[in-house]
Amino acid sequence: MASVRAVYARAFGGEDPLANLEVGEQPEPELRPGWALVRVTAASLNHHDLWTLRGVSSRPLAAPQVLGCDAAGRVEALGEGVEGAPPPGTRVVCHSVIGCGTCASCRAGHPNLCHRLTLLGEPPHGGTLAELVAVPAANLVPLPDTVGDEAAACLPTAYLTAYRMLFTRAGLRPGMSVLVQGAGGGVASAAILLATLAGIEVHATSRDPAKRRLAEEMGARGSFAPDDRAAARELSQRTRGGVDAVLDTVGEATWELSLRAVRPAGVVVVAGATSGANPAALLNRVFWRQLTVAGTTMGTRAELERLVGLCASALLRPLIDRVMPLAEARSAFADLASGRQRGKLVLAPG
Ligand SMILES: NC(=O)c1ccc[n+]([C@@H]2O[C@H](COP(=O)([O-])OP(=O)(O)OC[C@H]3O[C@@H](n4cnc5c(N)ncnc54)[C@H](OP(=O)(O)O)[C@@H]3O)[C@@H](O)[C@H]2O)c1
Ligand SMILES: [Zn+2]
Repeated sequence: MASVRAVYARAFGGEDPLANLEVGEQPEPELRPGWALVRVTAASLNHHDLWTLRGVSSRPLAAPQVLGCDAAGRVEALGEGVEGAPPPGTRVVCHSVIGCGTCASCRAGHPNLCHRLTLLGEPPHGGTLAELVAVPAANLVPLPDTVGDEAAACLPTAYLTAYRMLFTRAGLRPGMSVLVQGAGGGVASAAILLATLAGIEVHATSRDPAKRRLAEEMGARGSFAPDDRAAARELSQRTRGGVDAVLDTVGEATWELSLRAVRPAGVVVVAGATSGANPAALLNRVFWRQLTVAGTTMGTRAELERLVGLCASALLRPLIDRVMPLAEARSAFADLASGRQRGKLVLAPG
């Protein structure tokens, strides 16, 4: 059987999840009817890949599992019954969200609301950190010449999630204000760049002073440590009672600040819980201040196409920490696990 080089989990959980990581040969993905094979030129890492190594998944995991949700590359081959998909040779970015295709949400173009939602890199699908990945042909989004593979590979998870948090779930518009928690992360740095681009006043938190400076270089008007209560009070005064929205992917470590920093009738959008998923709910604050807590996951193909358009017009340039060959996956994962990265870590299987 033909094989490809890939980054995969050979086990899950345990004391040292990074010890589960392997770079080596895996069987070439199968080309099924309605699907396509993509030769990956750039694939970005997400915290999701770390959760998989830790054994945290919405589906039962089985080793080996090729990791990775995000990829850009060239269409290698199309399976039987594919109509209207970009032909072999076309440069594409892959929409990672795979729904059942038949429920009301999927038919309405919202597979991220499907009750059977899965992502590339989750069972039963192989992931994108490989030379070849199998993708539903309907999930291929052609790339204009002006969008590079490395920038495109950042879009399908972090930028898509941030886009949906800001505009679809928080409904932010130019002139409004947002607090982004955990500035150094992939989703958070995407949110800072996208909000700045849209004329939204951005504030950011980070545990790391260097990342706070980076947030301001990316366009944030101000930044502070998440445990700096005086800075949080000052933000509340400056924004006349709080920001219009808070984006929180950090969870327990920042939840109280999220509920304190938002204005009455504002919205706190949650897409992750890196530091833990069970903070005190502070329900008194939620109802007394009439807050909305809005969850969100990934985004639609139409939202991904809008992001590709922003990159094509050169308005958006994703923040990339560095680009490495597959062989250096271990060092990339170590950076992600320790929070050393600034923006996105990209692997280039070619
Ligand atoms: N629902 C979805 O569709 C979706 C999509 C993408 C991501 N997510 C989730 O969102 C989270 C972020 O993903 P990502 O890929 O952006 O991860 P990432 O690049 O690893 O960033 C995580 C950031 O969280 C902050 N953080 C971590 N632990 C913290 C703590 N104890 N206290 C304060 N801040 C802490 C750090 O920011 P600082 O170092 O700057 O403080 C870190 O940079 C993950 O849990 C991921 O699973 C969900
Ligand atoms: Zn469905």
